[in-house]
Amino acid sequence: MWVPGASQMPPSTKLCIEIILALLCQGRLCQAPVYRIQVPSRVTAQQGLCVLLPCNFKANFNSSGVAYKYWFLMDDDRDTSLAVATTDPGRALREPGGRIRLVGDAPDDCSLLISDVRAGDRDRYYFRFVKGDFKYSYYETQPLVDVTELSEQPVLRVPEVLLSGQLVNVTCQAPGTCSGTPPQITWTGGFDYTARNVSVALANGSVSYSSELSFTPAPGDDGKELVCTVTYPALVGVFTRRSVQLQVHYPPELLPQGNCTVWGHGPGGVATCHCAAEGNPPPHLEWRLPNRTLTGDFEGPELRATSWAQGPAVSGELRGPAGALANVSCVATNAHGQSQAVLTVVTAAGFSWTLVVALAVAGSLVLVVAGAAVAWKVVKGRQGGRVPTRAGRCQGTGDGQVCHSSEQQASTAPSHRQNATREEGALEKKGRGGGGGGGGRCYRERGDGEQFTEEHIYVNI
Ligand SMILES: *[C@@H]1O[C@H](CO)[C@@H](O)[C@H](O)[C@H]1NC(C)=O
Ligand SMILES: *[C@@H]1O[C@H](CO)[C@@H](O)[C@H](O)[C@H]1NC(C)=O
Ligand SMILES: *[C@@H]1O[C@H](CO)[C@@H](O)[C@H](O)[C@H]1NC(C)=O
Ligand SMILES: *[C@@H]1O[C@H](CO)[C@@H](O)[C@H](O)[C@H]1NC(C)=O
Ligand SMILES: *[C@@H]1O[C@H](CO)[C@@H](O)[C@H](O)[C@H]1NC(C)=O
Ligand SMILES: *[C@@H]1O[C@H](CO)[C@@H](O)[C@H](O)[C@H]1NC(C)=O
Ligand SMILES: *[C@@H]1O[C@H](CO)[C@@H](O)[C@H](O)[C@H]1NC(C)=O
Repeated sequence: MWVPGASQMPPSTKLCIEIILALLCQGRLCQAPVYRIQVPSRVTAQQGLCVLLPCNFKANFNSSGVAYKYWFLMDDDRDTSLAVATTDPGRALREPGGRIRLVGDAPDDCSLLISDVRAGDRDRYYFRFVKGDFKYSYYETQPLVDVTELSEQPVLRVPEVLLSGQLVNVTCQAPGTCSGTPPQITWTGGFDYTARNVSVALANGSVSYSSELSFTPAPGDDGKELVCTVTYPALVGVFTRRSVQLQVHYPPELLPQGNCTVWGHGPGGVATCHCAAEGNPPPHLEWRLPNRTLTGDFEGPELRATSWAQGPAVSGELRGPAGALANVSCVATNAHGQSQAVLTVVTAAGFSWTLVVALAVAGSLVLVVAGAAVAWKVVKGRQGGRVPTRAGRCQGTGDGQVCHSSEQQASTAPSHRQNATREEGALEKKGRGGGGGGGGRCYRERGDGEQFTEEHIYVNI
């Protein structure tokens, strides 16, 4: 051991230092230095993306010679195996091409970058450093590179609400910032668009891959699905996608069939106006009359307006005297605009009073016939199956119970008027040992000799 200035020291001091050193050497200070490496024990990589294994190490950088860094698989031989990555041009690689490489220029940087990660990259790795006589393999820490399926989705930037007819730019950013094989970004949407590569190189040499789509939405694009798909060409079948449902707003547009149909003429004529419009958000309707404006839902002494919505469409109806509805405009409004039109007046086709009278007469006849039939049925029904109000009572328990029923005629059909006002009957309990109350059959004979049968449920009292 070399001690500074030891040769000039008096022997007693020299001895003293040697004793102190010997004492210290019983601890750990005199052991061979442990060369440390700082690296995560595990990193997780998604297939298709890249993964950086950040790494830093300590070694004897003082020894003379050129420095070489190596990464090997856990089971590789440090002297004979192909390296996973190395700065040594004399050492062959498992996979030439630089997919897995050492990054970081600092002498103590051992960071490893794996691009286009594939399932086969899952392994434990160890680092080795060589500089002249100094050679060290850092077996103590062998980080695990774990590989999972690609689960990260692209980032899709689309305005929440698009306005019809207005050019919009939306972007899709691929996950990861790899300098490996550039991913392909494709769009699907069912409308015309142009896409541009808007990838940007980052300061650290990585690239953020993005595509920008420019398009002009139309009202028909509302609700359509816009999908951005990112595929990683270095690997078969590895892709990720994200979709968004477009919300396209547009000003109202009146549908062409709006009109006012007039029934009859003169002061008695009535009119019904129809108007429909479409817009997003759904518009509201208004009716403009020569000297007043009515909302889509209005109830007045003469005029009545109703409106109803279905999806982006709104329909309305206005009824009133033909004179008041001679010059009506329909107005549809939403946040993005207004659309209005004067409704044409149409005289109801094939309309004639004769027809109405004929229809009314025919209708009345049908009603009269139907009424008569119903009346006849009712009368018949009453004769056969009157439902009298009644009260029943059973006396005694067990066999031989006698029940009395009395009933009040509810109806007074003419043929029974004189003798059928009050009836009494006795019930023979059927079955033996039946216990408490039960059902029974009650036979009764009416005064006019017409016998009928009824069943009653009697309850013991
Ligand atoms: C390397 O040399 C420097 C001075 O030249 C010294 O301070 C340092 O301790 C040495 N490192 C090792 C590991 O020997
Ligand atoms: C969309 O992108 C084009 C081309 O880069 C640009 O000219 C235009 O101003 C952008 N429009 C919007 C609304 O950002
Ligand atoms: C997009 O641009 C980046 C760099 O700007 C390039 O690396 C990449 O290959 C391009 N992608 C396509 C599909 O052209
Ligand atoms: C490069 O920088 C970006 C952000 O600035 C970071 O997300 C990425 O991990 C970096 N890549 C590497 C290989 O250092
Ligand atoms: C009048 O409106 C009704 C109801 O919207 C429609 O069915 C009819 O075709 C319209 N008539 C004309 C002539 O536009
Ligand atoms: C509407 O105008 C008519 C004449 O054009 C008038 O008689 C009537 O009073 C007006 N109604 C209202 C509510 O102003
Ligand atoms: C109907 O009303 C519009 C305005 O609402 C007006 O310009 C037009 O002259 C009117 N037509 C008739 C025949 O009164």
